[in-house]
Amino acid sequence: MADRPSPTAGLKLFRLDERSALVTGGGGALGRAMALGLAAAGASVAIGDRDLEAAESTVAQLVAAGGDAVAIGLDVTDAAAVDDAGRHVVRRFGRLDILINSAGIGARGAAEDYELERFEQVLSINLTGTFLCCRAAGRVMLAAGDGRIVNIASIAGLVGYQGNPAYLASKGGVVQLTRALAVEWARRNVRVNAIAPGVIETPMVARQVEKEPQFYLDFREKHPVGRFGTPEEMVGPALFLCSNASSFVTGHVLVADGGYTAQ
Ligand SMILES: NC(=O)c1ccc[n+]([C@@H]2O[C@H](COP(=O)([O-])OP(=O)(O)OC[C@H]3O[C@@H](n4cnc5c(N)ncnc54)[C@H](O)[C@@H]3O)[C@@H](O)[C@H]2O)c1
Repeated sequence: MADRPSPTAGLKLFRLDERSALVTGGGGALGRAMALGLAAAGASVAIGDRDLEAAESTVAQLVAAGGDAVAIGLDVTDAAAVDDAGRHVVRRFGRLDILINSAGIGARGAAEDYELERFEQVLSINLTGTFLCCRAAGRVMLAAGDGRIVNIASIAGLVGYQGNPAYLASKGGVVQLTRALAVEWARRNVRVNAIAPGVIETPMVARQVEKEPQFYLDFREKHPVGRFGTPEEMVGPALFLCSNASSFVTGHVLVADGGYTAQ
């Protein structure tokens, strides 16, 4: 049974004291912001990223902010390494309550010229990698009878747009994987939700904007708020879904897109 939140708990509903979390892709822009948000709410945080230097840099920020954190070099497509990372977190913090799957890559390209190898790589990291991390963390959480998983999907998993077939397919898969696991694990108190961000201003997006300025100008205009989001704007949705504030929420896709999919 989930902890029943009290109506007078106020902001305590969002606290994560004594919880421990694994954030994959935590060396990247969104993962880093969400990891800082979890730590500020009291959680110990492991950062798993295939870029160990980036993971260590996030950990340095977490520690500087007073948090308890550890960096793990992790390729989410390597099933054995993912299982090891789950065990590593349990050894280090004594538990694993929260998983945020933020590891992912984008790879724009016209469908008719899209290389099979590239397509499979995007699916392998964004979708299979998310599954492997959910499976590893899910086993720990199911055994403990408590867990919260947040998968980072995208508006690309909900609506179509041109020039990103593998990414859209992978994020659509993440949305359905989220629902599949939410339903399967609901009675065992492991909640599985997703966040679907609109375009977020990150170094990766900035590089794309340089390559395709007109596409991204139009894309920005299609966000009803008239701007892209920021990594920090993903913290609130993540805290909500990782905390007791969302104790009756599972299988949900929380769109944080400045109104993009409301049109
Ligand atoms: N930035 C956006 O506009 C946006 C919008 C919607 C969704 N998203 C999603 O949010 C997530 C984070 O994106 P971001 O903008 O922070 O990108 P980012 O490139 O800054 O971060 C992604 C991180 O994932 C890591 N990574 C990549 N492949 C990996 C692998 N195989 N194993 C482990 N780590 C791996 C990278 O090293 C990087 O640190 C991604 O899933 C992305 O698809 C981003």
